[in-house]
Amino acid sequence: MIKLALAGALSASLVLGAAIAAPGTSDSVVDQREKRFEASGADIQAIFKTHLKAGDVAAIEAAAGRMADWAEEMPSYFPAGSDSEGAKPEIWQNFSDFEEKAAANANAARHLQAVSGQGNMADVVAAAKALGGTCKACHTSYRNKK
Ligand code: HEC
Repeated sequence: MIKLALAGALSASLVLGAAIAAPGTSDSVVDQREKRFEASGADIQAIFKTHLKAGDVAAIEAAAGRMADWAEEMPSYFPAGSDSEGAKPEIWQNFSDFEEKAAANANAARHLQAVSGQGNMADVVAAAKALGGTCKACHTSYRNKK
C-alpha cells in the first residue's frame, strides 16, 4: 500500500512537473501556450482587417516581431505529456517535423517584420499571406479545432 501511494505521488508530481515546466507564471503550460496562440490570432487578424488597409506598417512590424518571438519558443511549450484537447498526439510522434513547422513560422514572421520596415506594400501583403500559410500548415497536421 505504501509503495502504491508513493508511486501515485511520484507520477502525480511528474505530471505536475510537465505542466509547470515552461517559464513564466504559475499557469499550466497548456494555458500559457493557448494565451500565446490567442495573441498571435489577434495579431494576424488585426494585420488583415486593420493594419494593411490603414497602411500601418509600424503596427505590422511590431505584430510580426511578437509572432516571431512566440514561434521561436513554441516547441518548448509542448513538453512530452502536455496533451490537451487542441493538440494532436501526432505532435509528439513527429516532434522534429513540428519543430520545423514552428521554425518556418518564425522565419515567415521575421521576413514580414523585415519587409514592413522597408515600406513596399506589395511585399508586405505577400509576406503576411505567406505567414498565414505557415500557421495553417501546422494547424492542418497538429491542431484539433475545439
Ligand atoms: C508548429 C505548429 C503551429 C504553428 C506554426 C502555429 N500554431 Fe496555432 N496552434 C497549434 C497547436 C498545436 C494548437 C493547439 C494548442 C493546444 O490547445 O494545446 C494551436 C492553437 C492555436 C489557437 C487557439 C488557441 C486556444 O485558445 O486554444 C490559435 C488562435 C492559433 N493557434 C493561432 C495561430 C496563428 C495565428 C499562427 C501563426 C501566426 C499559429 N497559430 C501558428 C500549432 C501551431
